[in-house]
Amino acid sequence: MLPFIRPDLAKFTAYKPHPSSDTAASVPTQFDRLDTNESPYELPPQLKEKLAWTYQQEIETNRYPDGGHEALKSAIAEYVNESALLPSLFNAANISVGNGSDELIRSLLIATCLGGEGSILVANPTFSMYGILAQTLGIPVVAVGRNETNFEIDLKAAQSAIEETQNPPIRVVFVVHPNSPTANSLTTAELVWLKSLPEHILVVIDEAYFEFSQTSLVGELPQRPNWVILRTFSKAFRLASLRVGYCVAHPEAIGILEKIRLPYNLPSFSIAAALIALQNRPLLLESIAQILSERAKLIEALSQQPELQITTSNANFIYVRLKPNSSHSQDATLKSLHHKLRTLGTLVRHISGGLRITVGTSEENARTINRVQAALANLES
Ligand SMILES: Cc1ncc(COP(=O)(O)O)c(C=O)c1O
Repeated sequence: MLPFIRPDLAKFTAYKPHPSSDTAASVPTQFDRLDTNESPYELPPQLKEKLAWTYQQEIETNRYPDGGHEALKSAIAEYVNESALLPSLFNAANISVGNGSDELIRSLLIATCLGGEGSILVANPTFSMYGILAQTLGIPVVAVGRNETNFEIDLKAAQSAIEETQNPPIRVVFVVHPNSPTANSLTTAELVWLKSLPEHILVVIDEAYFEFSQTSLVGELPQRPNWVILRTFSKAFRLASLRVGYCVAHPEAIGILEKIRLPYNLPSFSIAAALIALQNRPLLLESIAQILSERAKLIEALSQQPELQITTSNANFIYVRLKPNSSHSQDATLKSLHHKLRTLGTLVRHISGGLRITVGTSEENARTINRVQAALANLES
């Protein structure tokens, strides 16, 4: 370890999201990439052309980007209002944009917990970046579990953690609505609990998959200054490569995020792409219905496998577990299933307890069904 580096960083490894860069000879080079919950569809050609035109005609590559993001923030506020059916709920002062919502998660951690000020609470399994980013900042992570059947947060454990965690106390609770990897939306009991949290605890509700679930808590924000909502252009809006996320919150909280972020956190090209995506949202969001119908088919087909247990999904991915009475040892089997699928050409995410599979194109999903069947048959032998 380099002598000038914080010793606590020794235990971390760099995040490697796409193992497809591996060159193992036994692995096909063309994967169905169903491990990161992206949209399976690219931007339509006419929007790519529009973006290329904008790049050529309007973006001055020698100039810094628009560091204030005013046009983008206003367009986002309009979209959030429209999707909440509340025409003048928010304006640009309620929005901060980040280099992916990952950047906003880090900014929220810096604003609340850095320097021994606070710990965070997560309910596992959940999106891993909350814990990863917290740990790289030296922020303690308190984790509670979930109900095995419906994945509801263990609220008793969560409340005890809030009451008992000292030095530093819990300052932020992160929840995903719907959760990744388990694909369930927040329940009424979870919402009642979140609403009961005192104002000195920040509640981060990550709605990365909002366009698939169509349930949002933005309408709660005016009454709850300690709540913020995160969203992203990486999923339904098909812009994962361009890294644009946003936070909706009380203007005072937004003011803090604006202080913390890097001055030119979004490249001009990304700003242009997000604006074009928003201007053309009816066209882009047309794909949601298709993805939801593919999801239903995928769940239906995989549920025929006697070994598998698949719960409802409110997102663009499904969470697959092995039935408890299956004769196989759970995690070893999942690991083997994950590996076999990869060898057959389908990348999925293995998270302790289950496999998370993104809904792809209908061709990809058909291959997923065949490959899962083949991999399971192969496990038996
Ligand atoms: C719950 C959740 N939040 C945030 C993100 C990251 O979004 P972004 O690409 O905007 O950083 C993801 C990506 O998988 C996610 O699942």
